[in-house]
Amino acid sequence: MFKLDLSNAAPFLPEDWLSSRAAALEKARAMLEAGNGPGGDFTGWVHLPRDYDKEEFARIQTAAERIRRDSEALVVIGIGGSYLGARAVVEVLNSPNFNLTRKGGPAIYFAGCGLSSDGLTEVIDQVRDKEFSVNVISKSGTTTEPAVAFRIFKALLEEKYGKEGARKRIYATTDVKRGALKGLADAEGYEEFVVPDAVGGRYSVLTAVGLLPIACAGIDITALMGGAAAAMEELAKPGTDNPAWQYAAARHGLYCAGKKVELLACYEPSFRFFAEWWKQLYGESEGKDGKGLFPASVEFTADLHSMGQYIQQGERVMFETVVRFAKSQREIEIPNDPDNVDGLNFLAGKSLSFVAEKAFQGVVLAHVDGGVPNVILTVEQRDARTLGALIYFFEYACGLSGYLLEVNPFDQPGVEAYKNNMYALLGKPGYEDRRKELEARLG
Ligand code: PA5
Repeated sequence: MFKLDLSNAAPFLPEDWLSSRAAALEKARAMLEAGNGPGGDFTGWVHLPRDYDKEEFARIQTAAERIRRDSEALVVIGIGGSYLGARAVVEVLNSPNFNLTRKGGPAIYFAGCGLSSDGLTEVIDQVRDKEFSVNVISKSGTTTEPAVAFRIFKALLEEKYGKEGARKRIYATTDVKRGALKGLADAEGYEEFVVPDAVGGRYSVLTAVGLLPIACAGIDITALMGGAAAAMEELAKPGTDNPAWQYAAARHGLYCAGKKVELLACYEPSFRFFAEWWKQLYGESEGKDGKGLFPASVEFTADLHSMGQYIQQGERVMFETVVRFAKSQREIEIPNDPDNVDGLNFLAGKSLSFVAEKAFQGVVLAHVDGGVPNVILTVEQRDARTLGALIYFFEYACGLSGYLLEVNPFDQPGVEAYKNNMYALLGKPGYEDRRKELEARLG
């Protein structure tokens, strides 16, 4: 389904970059398989494409059909791992302009992924006069951004449909037992979906967290899971010909060689949120204990006209991982112009994809010449099955990478620091001492 090409990274690596890591990779593979490495309690995603809850999966499909029938808009409320995966899949498989280009089904709006008053008001303006439903997603059920957004949308729904009508339009995806959202969903009688205990937010796209919104967008979630299951089978096989082993080893080798930044590049605007999902996956999994590649992303060719200068000649601290879709979904040809005032007739009759292909080839050569190793991942199809496989590939390689780096790839203790300060400054009960201390510092 995809091909990993390391020939433009290998010259920057020692000859034994892969063989010298084979033993560590085998150890990482075994820990992921058995769930007995650091953070092993959160490796439920490893076998998820095979072991997922089939009854819940059927409920997700039924709920999605209902939402597609009775709603012109769906508001997906969640932050971080509770929304990025769904948005990534919807945009790659449909379009970043999904709400304008969709054929049937609800428009999908994402809310609760920030604290912008203007952002939230805009979503309210878009949906308030439409038939709409809400999918609120929070594993902990206590995250401030989605909790605040949900309170606002719940009130809006109740005002519009009454309490009983609103109840039928709210779908809650949360922990099976714990958290404020679980308590609220039980009390109000919302339809509930589960974020499994053993799956952390950034690995949760193939649970109800991602699957319900994705199905509401009309995407075939059976194919998505099928692709992930095929990748799971393939990538579980030990050996240095395993592409996840190769990707993890190459990243680690480049990191050890002084490349501290990994740029995920793609030539498709629809890939933007996939890159956002990938950044969270790798950033949260590896960035700890003073270690870790900094994951960043660029969209080519647009960013060649903004970040291209730095990539070519700035600090030599980065490498690129280029995700290349082998085929465009639709072709457009450059027309002939008898006057040729713009001098472009040498391209007449060529497709835009041909021009993009030549740009890609030129960029790889230029960046490699400029000291930027390139890892190239060619993806054959842009469909649900292939995307499921790609998601699993990045998740699995991330688990391996974290263990190669000797960190716990499944926790995120650093995220709490800002939350505690914000709670204290907002006057949350229980944070009184910290509030005094912080306010004294703020002067
Ligand atoms: O990966 C993670 O753990 C985070 O990004 C969480 O998904 C994010 O903070 C949202 O958390 P919750 O789903 O508990 O609201």
